[in-house]
Amino acid sequence: MGNADDLRQSILEQVAAYYEAAHADRSFAAGKDRVQYAGRVYDEREMINMVDSVLDFWLTAGPWAQKFEKKLGKFLGVREVLPVNSGSSANLVALTTLCSRQLDDPLLPGDEVIVPATSFPTTVNPIIQNQLTPVFVDSNYGDFNLNVSQLEEAVSDRTRAVMFAHTLGNPADMDAVMAFVKKHDLYLIEDTCDALGSKWDGKALGTFGQLATLSFYPAHHITMGEGGAVYTNRPKLAKIARAVRDWGRDCWCGYDNPTNGACGRRFDREVPGIPGYYDHKYLYSEIGYNLKITDPQAAMGVAQLDKLPEFIAARKRNFAFLYENLCQYESFIMMPTWEPQADVSWFAFPMLVRADAPFMRHEITRFLEQNGVETRLIFAGNITKQPGYAHIEKRVIGDLAVADDIMRGGFFVGVYPGLDQPRLDYIVETFAKFFAQL
Ligand SMILES: Cc1ncc(COP(=O)(O)O)c(C=O)c1O
Repeated sequence: MGNADDLRQSILEQVAAYYEAAHADRSFAAGKDRVQYAGRVYDEREMINMVDSVLDFWLTAGPWAQKFEKKLGKFLGVREVLPVNSGSSANLVALTTLCSRQLDDPLLPGDEVIVPATSFPTTVNPIIQNQLTPVFVDSNYGDFNLNVSQLEEAVSDRTRAVMFAHTLGNPADMDAVMAFVKKHDLYLIEDTCDALGSKWDGKALGTFGQLATLSFYPAHHITMGEGGAVYTNRPKLAKIARAVRDWGRDCWCGYDNPTNGACGRRFDREVPGIPGYYDHKYLYSEIGYNLKITDPQAAMGVAQLDKLPEFIAARKRNFAFLYENLCQYESFIMMPTWEPQADVSWFAFPMLVRADAPFMRHEITRFLEQNGVETRLIFAGNITKQPGYAHIEKRVIGDLAVADDIMRGGFFVGVYPGLDQPRLDYIVETFAKFFAQL
């Protein structure tokens, strides 16, 4: 074993040296290197943790996953964190949890869930996948969040839940949302895939509703490559969500799996009509999936969590710099806005080309991309206009005119911590070049 420990130590030192030789160079050649809108930000710690985990060869979620859950739970200030293999899976698990027949008041097929038309696809898809009906409200100019003034109009006797993403990290008006869900006794799922670290009135986003979700795809605030999480303060919901994630299995032994189960009652279960006792590990209380992560992913996540406070600070700084330098184009491009209660851990810097600007969105995004500045569009625009959603069962509130306008003119550039001053300056210079040629 002594030899194995020495070998491990030497491998990890080599990994650090390899990082330094192969990955550490972050220099930037303006006009040659692309300025990404997002990307993984890492150093030798992520690589060392991952290799360490591979040398353990646990593979499935294990000791590193346990460490990650605890650490993320502490950061968020929540009791229960369940890592899953993507933000999309997190949304699926969260909404499916609310459909569980283990709840006194589950969502049932045909029930309605209010969601903004300007949504990421996989915030809406679990509604459809669970045979519920999405009711689309419009969004706001400025923060691109759901338009809370339409919520009352969206209510019917089948309304049971509200689900939405805090768009690109910018909090929705949570005073209005909470007053609404309380008044109508609705479930709330917050998709905080883009909003890790954002707060409303000092309270972490994701802690307002029953359940919330995160993505750890490389574009997000921290990454595991692919990955995500569901989090909640309610142990009963966490237990159901774990079952949904883990094949539908009722057993909640988690990482502690002694012979007789963590509950000590593994062989006490009975199934009506089946003589004898039944192994709890093979009892299925939910219609589940397998959406679990692997331990090397979690190992990377643990290193990323150490960097999270600095990542959030960098996103805020980068946003502030772009805001200060791009505001001069306000007459052509609508700048982002946020509420006074919002403390925003920005995912990106969103903008909207005004309808009367002397150019169209594709002209500026094409120019930026051709000059090496990456751009992306805001979610699915008006998702009801996407081809895959043409035939879904739905209700629509109003004419979704703002969602249409976001689909016409919205886009964003990055603010991620990988943007150092030369890259930020290059973004600003490229915007200036575009406007100079008008
Ligand atoms: C708001 C929102 N929800 C969900 C997701 C899905 O996350 P993932 O790509 O990890 O499936 C994303 C992805 O970017 C997102 O932005």
